[in-house]
Amino acid sequence: MWKIGDVEIDNRVVVAPMAGVSNAAFRTIVKEQGAGLVVCEMISDKALLFHNPKTLKMLHIEPEEYPLSIQILGGETKTMVEAAKYIAKNTDAAIIDINMGCPVPKVTNNESGSKFLKNPDHIYEVVSQVVDAVDKPVTVKMRCGWDKAHYYPVETALAAQKAGAKMIAMHGRTREQMYRGQADWNILKKVREALSIPFVANGDIRTPIDAKNALEITGADAVMVGRAALGNPWVIHQMVHYLETGEMLADPSPAEKISQAIDHLNRLIQLKGEEVAVKEFRKLSSYYLKGLPGSAKYKETLHTQVEAIPMIQLLKQCGSEAQERLDLRQYQLNHKNEE
Ligand SMILES: Cc1cc2nc3c(=O)[nH]c(=O)nc-3n(C[C@H](O)[C@H](O)[C@H](O)COP(=O)(O)O)c2cc1C
Repeated sequence: MWKIGDVEIDNRVVVAPMAGVSNAAFRTIVKEQGAGLVVCEMISDKALLFHNPKTLKMLHIEPEEYPLSIQILGGETKTMVEAAKYIAKNTDAAIIDINMGCPVPKVTNNESGSKFLKNPDHIYEVVSQVVDAVDKPVTVKMRCGWDKAHYYPVETALAAQKAGAKMIAMHGRTREQMYRGQADWNILKKVREALSIPFVANGDIRTPIDAKNALEITGADAVMVGRAALGNPWVIHQMVHYLETGEMLADPSPAEKISQAIDHLNRLIQLKGEEVAVKEFRKLSSYYLKGLPGSAKYKETLHTQVEAIPMIQLLKQCGSEAQERLDLRQYQLNHKNEE
């Protein structure tokens, strides 16, 4: 157990915020898989303050998600402070996180996301004002730099700490790298050593062994896992279990994977209605099908679906075919051994 401010976090596996993914449907699933902390997808400060209906819906939280962190995105102190106050007043979020890592030009052109990494003074200003405005712990999620010429991982993290941040999560890539190359866990270790507040390591943590190695190499309090949990929420349970016991749990069967995928779709329907949910689940279905033998042809058809029932039927067919292929492979293998 560790703490962010006075919020207790049960274990050392945090699920990363992912725009278009980390809504209540996904978050409740990974929470059931044992995530110590889940973070909401980024919410634009200005969209929130304009009461954009889609943005307000993003604030929907289920009670079982506690402790949840809501992430805000923006570049101006005034609107970030107002957005944080709005969240503190109107939601059950336990933690307010500030996005200082998003690399997308639409975001960085507005002085927000990873643009902060060029200017530790700007980090200090925004974080300190948000910290003063709310009585919930404020945390920062950042990358380790903008590019090679603007690379201040320790300075930016220290600016956030000095401003009163209660935890920092750092992705070991620069903005320039986007998702290329490898996340640098060695720089995360240097940042960890410079900080006195809790620190969470992020980037390329895909397996239980990665989680253990990243914790050992960086000395972080926890790991943050993003892409590895897409269509693969069990990896969170596998990581938590491995870190606690050293035992590696087996991957789920195709039937279990498909049943989780259908459950995810149903939760999305509850949250957003069938039309939007089916559209959003097209892409997510590919993640669930990854690695299932024979799934390639289903992926294309799934991407054209507009209704839930045919989508669910296709998922089930794909699961049965994958199981048949696996059984056949196993039979052939056993048979070969007998010869
Ligand atoms: C689809 C997607 C959406 C993302 N959205 C956000 C976001 O809203 N806020 C944020 O701070 N990071 C966001 N990220 C970055 C992740 O939180 C994480 O830092 C990054 O994926 C590296 O971790 P990983 O190697 O475990 O995926 C996003 C990443 C992906 C793949």
